[in-house]
Order: sequence, then C-alpha cells, then structure tokens
Amino acid sequence: MTDTAHRFDALTAEHMRAGGSWKWSTPGEWHGHGRSGLIGAFVAEMDYPVADAVADAVRASADGSRFGYLPDDWVADMAAATSAFWGDRFGWTPDPAWVRPVPDVLTAFTATVRHFTRPGSAILLPTPAYMPFLTVPAMLDRPLVQVPMARSGGRLVLDLDAIDRGFADGAGLLVLTNPHNPTGRVFDADELAAVAEVVERHGARVFADEIHAPLTFSGARHRPYATTSAAAAGHTITATSASKAWNTPGLKCGQVILSDAADAEHWTATGYLAEHGTATPGVLATTAAYRDARGWLDDVLAYLDGNRALLAAADLPGIDVTVPDGTYLAWLDARGLGLDEPPSAFFTREAGVVMTDGAACGEAGRGGMRLNIAMARPVLAEALDRIDAAVRLM
Ligand SMILES: Cc1ncc(COP(=O)(O)O)c(C=O)c1O
Repeated sequence: MTDTAHRFDALTAEHMRAGGSWKWSTPGEWHGHGRSGLIGAFVAEMDYPVADAVADAVRASADGSRFGYLPDDWVADMAAATSAFWGDRFGWTPDPAWVRPVPDVLTAFTATVRHFTRPGSAILLPTPAYMPFLTVPAMLDRPLVQVPMARSGGRLVLDLDAIDRGFADGAGLLVLTNPHNPTGRVFDADELAAVAEVVERHGARVFADEIHAPLTFSGARHRPYATTSAAAAGHTITATSASKAWNTPGLKCGQVILSDAADAEHWTATGYLAEHGTATPGVLATTAAYRDARGWLDDVLAYLDGNRALLAAADLPGIDVTVPDGTYLAWLDARGLGLDEPPSAFFTREAGVVMTDGAACGEAGRGGMRLNIAMARPVLAEALDRIDAAVRLM
C-alpha cells in the first residue's frame, strides 16, 4: 500500500450510494455499522469513475444523436481497437474481421452453446464459478456438470482428470474463465496446454471467457487460451469485453473473438441475433477505452494492486484469503469458522459487508465468499476491519 493519496481514496460510501450503482443500492441504507453503513462488495463492478475518454465518447454519442443502429465502420473500428489492445497487452492480434460485437459476454455464451455445441450435450464448468454459468445452461436445455477445482501447491487448479471424464461421458463444451472468477487465478501456460490436449482428444470445445484479461496484475501473465496451440484456436470461441476493466457493463458492448475460419463462417451464418443487441454508444465507448484509455487502466491496476496489498496484510482469523493474480475479486474461504449459516449472511449481519456467497458459485464454493476489492482504499480498510471484528466477537 502506498502512502500517497489517490483521487479514488476520497470516494466514500455516501458518495457511492448517491451515485446509484447496483452494488451500493441493493444493500439499502443501513447505517447500523460504522462510518460507511452497509458496504457493497458483491457484484463485479468498480467504484471508480470511468475514464475521460469513455465519458467523452458517451457524451459525443448524445451530442451527435448516435443512437441509431450500428454502422459497419464503427464495428470495424471497435474490432481494430480490440485487436490492437490484445496484441499490445497479450501478444495476440486477432484478425479484426474475426472480432464481432455482442452486447455482453453472457450473450456470447448463449450463442456459443446454441450454435457451436450439440443439442442436449452437457457443459463442463470448473467450480467455484461465475454465478450465471451455473443457471444459464438449464435455460438453454443443456445439462451442467460441475467440476470442482482441485488444490495443488496451495492454489486452486483445474481438475483435468475430472474434465477428461466429463468429456468421455459426452459433454461438448468446457467453460474456461481466465482470469478466473471468483478465485482470481490466472492460469499458466502448462495448465492451458494440458486443457487443450484433453479438449482436442475428445473433439470438444472451449468457451474462453477472458473478460477479466485486462485486469491481470504485473506478477502474472494473461495468455489467451486460443493462442495455446493450433488445435486450441480451432476449438475455441473467446469472449471478452472492456466492461470489467473500464467499468462499463451498462453500456452493453462485448466482443466475440473467433480463431478458426470455419467457426468465423458459422458465426456469420448464426450470430446475427447475438450481435443485434449491442449498443451503439457502447461500441464507441469501447473503442475509446481500448484505444485512448490505457493510461487510465494502468492507474486503476496500480490502485487495485495497493488494495491487494492491504488484503494480503489483513489477518482474518479462521478465513483463508486468496489474493487475486487477476480480477478485483478475492476468494475468502470461511469454512474454518464452522458457521451454521451461509458466511455471506453472517458477515452481512455482523460486519455490514455484503459479499457474494460461495454457494452461488457452485457446490465447491460452499463456505466461501467472493469479496470485491474495487473500492476506495479507506472503505476497503473499514470492510476488512469489520470482518475481523465480527470474527473476533464470535
Ligand atoms: C467471468 C465473468 N464472465 C462474464 C461476466 C458477465 O459479463 P457481461 O456483463 O459482459 O455479460 C462477468 C461479470 O462479472 C464475469 O465476471
């Protein structure tokens, strides 16, 4: 943690409540707990104001009445900006023609399931997982197979044997979220290569959710799964978005990145409905984010890194804290406390800190919590103090 004040330090809980975000409005106005009242630390959005370039793009959209259907050249510009950003940051410069607009990553997921997997085939999901991946497959008439992550060397890793068995039993798709939500893991090259080998052996597919890629901290390196091997490129649909790293989920613009000629052709034939909901101002703002707001992102990453250091230094008795390598989400394993209720319920009531309950992330998440650390550092410090105090009063 640095001693130099940052402008984000001044963002108080009162300020956030007045601003109107889901994270701070759903918990309501409960001031029974210390200076900040009920602290919203669940849904994955940041408390930081957006980059000037992003705000300017939205303002220019309003000033120029750019609220019509999406022109091809704005899509092409956004695709070029996406490709250049990915090239500069992750060493993968996809063909802009293979970068397609979607409103969000969940739409990319539903389109992938519908159009790139066999009807009725199961979906493999390493757990704990981003919550909608547990519920959306049933909405698409697909069985879900939860594959609990394993522990190795103190970290959560993919259970390749279980993934292998899942494919052998007929599953058609693996959801690979990297950086991983909710554990913050960034998978290394060997793990990704091993996944590619298993998937390819079964003739299966990967939905590579890389929405958090720009939020990889300097100690780790994000490797796009599709670049793992030619085989991986051939079996992968990648989805990403500027919406996590630049804090714009309400602007409704994400990207599907195709990495195989036949897949690109199939997307052209089937992707219309998925692309249709993409918001025109969101496309313009996304172009501005990838192209003109890289400095803003670096500043946010440095600030989040300070928050990570604060978290790493916290001594929360009975709670095993996983400090993220990427994402602003930390995994708190509270099973050591022996609570007889979901830990998020306990800490909402006793600490006034609202986190995502691990059980919503799958069976393997039961007893854990997902803490969003993308808040002003003094508010995070207060949240950690209150969690600590609640445990000590048990
Ligand atoms: C891993 C992951 N995938 C997808 C999403 C949802 O993204 P979108 O709003 O683009 O659907 C989130 C949001 O938090 C996420 O963390």
